[in-house]
Amino acid sequence: MKIKLKIFRFDPEKDEKPYYKFYEVEAEPSDRLLDCLNRIRWEQDPTLAFRMSCGHGVCGSDGMRIDGICGLPCQKLIKSLGPEVLVEPLPVFPVIKDLVVDLEPFFERYRSIKPYLVAASPPPEGERRQSPDENHVLKDAVRCILCACCTSSCPVNQNPETEDYVGPAALVRAFRYLLDSRDEAAAARIAILDRRQGVWGCQTLWKCTEVCPKEIPVTKLIGRIKRKIYEAKKETA
Ligand code: SF4
Ligand code: FES
Repeated sequence: MKIKLKIFRFDPEKDEKPYYKFYEVEAEPSDRLLDCLNRIRWEQDPTLAFRMSCGHGVCGSDGMRIDGICGLPCQKLIKSLGPEVLVEPLPVFPVIKDLVVDLEPFFERYRSIKPYLVAASPPPEGERRQSPDENHVLKDAVRCILCACCTSSCPVNQNPETEDYVGPAALVRAFRYLLDSRDEAAAARIAILDRRQGVWGCQTLWKCTEVCPKEIPVTKLIGRIKRKIYEAKKETA
């Protein structure tokens, strides 16, 4: 079958403004959209820029907007799409070229929540261990591949007045450490998150959960951070 792709193009070094270019590709229903983009780059237009690495929903590098919804082209089968597909870069972040956006603001917010285990007490012999139940709490959050689809789909991050909100991806990672039984920095983490730009920036709009390609219940995890902060404050009141 033939499939038509309408792709956002913009090379700031050459183009005055963005435009859309149409490509026609031969594809099997079981091909992924990423296969079609690769085919275009290899056989028709080597100037088309997009990121990819693993090709299997693991690295999170190929986030883009497909028919208006953020997702991973390596997970989109052609048979799930129509005969013409609109392909655009992730919103919210500045375009570097075509489908490649500058993710530095995304990773800056991610770093702001201290995305690492903090354990000041002397380590036990061997590993810092946790029980299967304690580990189970983290089972959704650890699936995050930092693709940025949630943050770029969030209406709060899309609003220029509230774009300083840390965003759902950073909050998923914050959950992963705040709820980790081995972490000893809860007070410092809560101080970072207990702000309008932190967890209270979330307006429970569910867009993040709708688009997450790893099916992480993002909004629910953010809700659990809010509850944890509320309970911590109640204890110290
Ligand atoms: Fe991507 Fe889901 Fe992680 Fe957000 S929570 S960055 S959508 S994997
Ligand atoms: Fe790695 Fe899609 S190419 S997640």
